Amino acid sequence: MSPLFRFDAVPFVVGLLALVALGLFKLRQRSSRVHSTRDQTTVAGKPRTQEREPGEWTPATFDYPQLEPCTDELNTIKPIPYRPFRWGEYHVTMGIRNMSWNEWIEIDQNFVAHHRLREHRIRTRGERVVRVHDAQPGIVASGHNAARELVYELAEYLSRRYPDIYHVTRKNKSEKGTYSWYGEGQVQTITIVPLNVTYDLEKEDPMTLSASLIQEDLAIMIEGSDGRYYLQAGAIIIPGSWRLSDKIGMPLDEIHVTGHVPQYERKLHLSMSRFFRRLPLDKPVVRNNYSFQLVHPPLSSTTTDPEIALDPTELAWCRTIHGDEDRDDFERRQSSVPPLEEAAGSAPVDPNEVFLRSERQTLRRLPRTGAIAFTIRVYQTPIMDLAREPGVPGRLASAVRGWSEDVAQYKGVERYKDVLPYLDERHREQVEAGLIKEDDHSSSYPF
Ligand SMILES: *[C@@H]1O[C@H](CO)[C@@H](O)[C@H](O)[C@H]1NC(C)=O
Ligand SMILES: *[C@@H]1O[C@H](CO)[C@@H](O)[C@H](O)[C@H]1NC(C)=O
Ligand SMILES: *[C@@H]1O[C@H](CO)[C@@H](O)[C@H](O)[C@H]1NC(C)=O
Ligand SMILES: *[C@@H]1O[C@H](CO)[C@@H](O)[C@H](O)[C@H]1NC(C)=O
Repeated sequence: MSPLFRFDAVPFVVGLLALVALGLFKLRQRSSRVHSTRDQTTVAGKPRTQEREPGEWTPATFDYPQLEPCTDELNTIKPIPYRPFRWGEYHVTMGIRNMSWNEWIEIDQNFVAHHRLREHRIRTRGERVVRVHDAQPGIVASGHNAARELVYELAEYLSRRYPDIYHVTRKNKSEKGTYSWYGEGQVQTITIVPLNVTYDLEKEDPMTLSASLIQEDLAIMIEGSDGRYYLQAGAIIIPGSWRLSDKIGMPLDEIHVTGHVPQYERKLHLSMSRFFRRLPLDKPVVRNNYSFQLVHPPLSSTTTDPEIALDPTELAWCRTIHGDEDRDDFERRQSSVPPLEEAAGSAPVDPNEVFLRSERQTLRRLPRTGAIAFTIRVYQTPIMDLAREPGVPGRLASAVRGWSEDVAQYKGVERYKDVLPYLDERHREQVEAGLIKEDDHSSSYPF
């Protein structure tokens, strides 16, 4: 899609859709009201999209499943070793799975370190990392209500799933809360026990508080009157290689087009829009993906940036590859795919400096606003640690060789091709040590 097409055609298409929608609206108004009343009093979360107008949502009641409390000591909870790659050819798909409610938000022993880094970035970067977009008139509502709903959802969830780590106080039950689960009083404050910090949900900015409570980054997508999903709020604290300020307010399909997600147009675009629109309240989903990240060790003697001390492995922003996070030409460079030769011919990559950046994303719909809450959790592992895991170096090398050219380019394979012989060597050692069999390709996603 050329920029020309985007700028000229979108108002036209939106206008056209608005006309069609206006015509249909009066006819459907009555029946959709009947349906939504039924949805509220009976089972919420049943497919209701067929009768729903694009961009419309009637607040629904939703019976949350009971969560299983996790009472493990925080510093004993290991990061989950997601290794989301397969032997052989890579296929571009959404790769989604059903999510158990117990797994919506994941915390682990890095919580305190992550919290410190996140607080620092929220404090120093402000609107560049946390932002709520206003309404885009005639197209999509603002993100403010959904942001408020999300922070209450998190407080309800976290205090039940991790009762030793998060404590809440509630308002008097008789003061009917707008946002609460199981008919309880609305949450007033939440305490992160290991940090001994307490936040008042009415006083804090909702997106900032949400981002401070957990290790995940958050995006809120709202359906527009054109049926597209718009990024109307975000707390994108540790994105690695994209910036919230470049994408806020954009519809999902443009985010992916400008991010050059390979084969998006051909394979993902339609299925993703359809998927978002149909996502029911009671069927959250999860997907994983991964890429590599090159991290030059910080030149500690010359740095005065406190962020480098808080984030030596560039979890938040991949400085080694993308340079200064605030540079003006970043988005422009991103939107023109760099030629393969650009990285070729540079010095060989040291496996010591390569990390697997493994990302876990969840999607769920919020019952009151109908917005979609998108969580993004990043796990970063040195490739050298990964290479010691039985079956993993062989499978990773095979997966990388299975990337098609566009995927390889998107993931910056040129930079990492020196890692392949290293992985092959570790694989050979594992075979020789009898840890795995030469042709055993049975190891797969270990989740
Ligand atoms: C996921 O949920 C959908 C919708 O309920 C169901 O049809 C499907 O079988 C589930 N898939 C798995 C792998 O459980
Ligand atoms: C809660 O509300 C009831 C009824 O309004 C009142 O009698 C009671 O004192 C309140 N409790 C607290 C703790 O505010
Ligand atoms: C937690 O912080 C409060 C002040 O906010 C303080 O009074 C209290 O002693 C602290 N508790 C612990 C265990 O450090
Ligand atoms: C995962 O996919 C998203 C697109 O859905 C992309 O923005 C992100 O950079 C990818 N992350 C990794 C680690 O590859």
